[in-house]
Amino acid sequence: MPTNIDAKERLITALDLPGVAQARQKVEELEGVVSFFKIGLTLQLAPGVEQLIQELIRGGKRVFLDYKYYDIPETVKTAVSRAVDLGVSFLTVHGSTPVIQGAVKGRGSSPLKLFAVTVLTSMDKADLAELGYENLSVEELVLFRARKALEAGCDGVIASGREARQVKALAGGSRLLVVTPGIRPDGYAEDDQKRRTTPADAILAGADYLVIGRPIVGAAEPREAAERILAQMREAFDKAAAGRG
Ligand code: C5P
Repeated sequence: MPTNIDAKERLITALDLPGVAQARQKVEELEGVVSFFKIGLTLQLAPGVEQLIQELIRGGKRVFLDYKYYDIPETVKTAVSRAVDLGVSFLTVHGSTPVIQGAVKGRGSSPLKLFAVTVLTSMDKADLAELGYENLSVEELVLFRARKALEAGCDGVIASGREARQVKALAGGSRLLVVTPGIRPDGYAEDDQKRRTTPADAILAGADYLVIGRPIVGAAEPREAAERILAQMREAFDKAAAGRG
C-alpha cells in the first residue's frame, strides 16, 4: 500500500566535508534529489558555515544542526535560541533532564525540533563499558535516555535502526520521532559505524528520518547514490504502511 510519506523529506544527507566550498558543491550536485542537509562538527569551525546555513534555508532546503549541545542549562538555552534565530529545522542535544529542559526553554514556541542523542551508532557494549556503563546493554541505555528525553520535552531521539522499534513502542507509536544514522546500504563499507542498518531495515523498524553521510557524499556519483537510497526508502515506507494497514 503506497503511503503519503515523501521519502525525500525523510532523507537527511550529512555534509561531512572539509570546508564550506566543498559542502556547497555537494549541495549543487544533489540539487533536486536531496533537500534536507545535516551540518555537524566537521563544519562547525569552517569559515562561512553560518552563511551556508542561511543560503540553504533561503534556497528552500531544511537544515539539521548536529552540534550535540551539552552544557549547563542556561548556556544550552541561549545556544538553542541562536539556532532558532538561524532558522534550522532540527538540532541535537545530549544529556540529562535539566540540560534538555534548558534546550526546550531556548526553543520556546519556535518550530525547531529537538533531538536527544542516545548512544552514538559508532558505539557497542564494549564502548559503554569503557565509559563506565558496565551493567547496561546498548538497548537499555538507549531506551532509558529516550524515555528521559521524551519526559523532558524533546521531539525525538537519535538512535540506530537496531533500537528504533523499541524506542517507537516507548512513545506509544508516533509521539517520539526517531532519526537514524549508521545507515549502510548492502555492500557498502562499515567505516566506524558499529550499530549499522540498511535504509530499508531502519524504516521497517520505525525510523522516521535517515541520516546518511559517506554513502552519499563520498560516492563517485552522489546523485545516483541518493536516488538509489530514496528508491529503497520509498519501498520500505510502503511496506511499513502495508504492515500497519
Ligand atoms: O558517513 P555516515 O553515514 O556514517 O555519517 C553519519 C552521520 O551521522 C555523521 O555526521 C555522524 O556525526 C552522525 N551521527 C552518527 N551517530 C549518532 C549521531 C550522529 O553517526 N548517534
